[in-house]
Amino acid sequence: MSVVKGVAMRTVYVNGAYVPETEAKVSVFDRAFLFGDGIYEVASVLGGKLIDFPAHVARLHRSANELGMRFNVSDEDILAIHRELIDRNGVEEGVVYLQMTRGAVDRDFLFDTDNLEPTLVLFTQTRPLIDTPVARNGLKIVSIPDLRWGRCDIKTVQLLYPSLGKMEAKSRGADDAWMVRDGVVTEGTSNNAFIVTKNGAIVTRPLSNEILPGITRAALMTYSAASGTPVEEREFTIEEARDAAEAFITSASVFVGPVISIDGIELSGGKPGPVTLGLRQTYVEESLKRAL
Ligand code: PDD
Repeated sequence: MSVVKGVAMRTVYVNGAYVPETEAKVSVFDRAFLFGDGIYEVASVLGGKLIDFPAHVARLHRSANELGMRFNVSDEDILAIHRELIDRNGVEEGVVYLQMTRGAVDRDFLFDTDNLEPTLVLFTQTRPLIDTPVARNGLKIVSIPDLRWGRCDIKTVQLLYPSLGKMEAKSRGADDAWMVRDGVVTEGTSNNAFIVTKNGAIVTRPLSNEILPGITRAALMTYSAASGTPVEEREFTIEEARDAAEAFITSASVFVGPVISIDGIELSGGKPGPVTLGLRQTYVEESLKRAL
């Protein structure tokens, strides 16, 4: 991290070079800029260490594979770049954002993956993840129709609909939105959706092309099952969610985020529920044991 006129400036990574953020450049012909032809990962950092890192790299490979995108960096180098950025920017708590695109070429709908050099950009964001307003107070959720494309399982940078969904939630006095397709909840705009039944089981819909296979979702399900919390992988309606004992979201940047109302209907007395808070603690403790 360097300082220019009193403003702390991050060091970011662009195509092999570590540069001050104001000097980082990507071509205007980059396919992610013109076509949304890029994939990304967000990995969290606690105590200067990466959470769930191998799973994030595995999903990056899967996303590239599904899009037939070249992958020309080794997993060792990806980890080394993350570590270097955490170190150079002094990140104790926050996230590392990674974006890989198909590359830069004159604008054309057709693309020649084999002859394109993928663009690789990484940057850090220092921010609290443990002691946050969301963890303390919970989130108000509204439901919106899921109008995204048919391959929501690929982590692409096409985030316009989720961004509009968050803006709609804000305009309706809420914090975030859950999306509903064919009568059932798919996921949150940038997170996976869970409910807690009155019997204390946690429920989340099964993986398919309609949702992102969340890394936090998978880890939490494993830790829950191991600690004796029943896990049900099945679809649920927004009506069932509004009537649930508790609800929560999972994502790399929030971990386990309590939901305190859905479409104006309060859950768990309008405050974070005990099962959710317990799972949040379990997730953080277990992840730290495995942090890299
Ligand atoms: N979002 N579903 C969607 C649509 C997401 O965008 C995300 C992550 C998740 C949760 O996945 P994970 O547990 O692997 O973070 C589910 C990231 C954090 C983002 O876009 O910032």
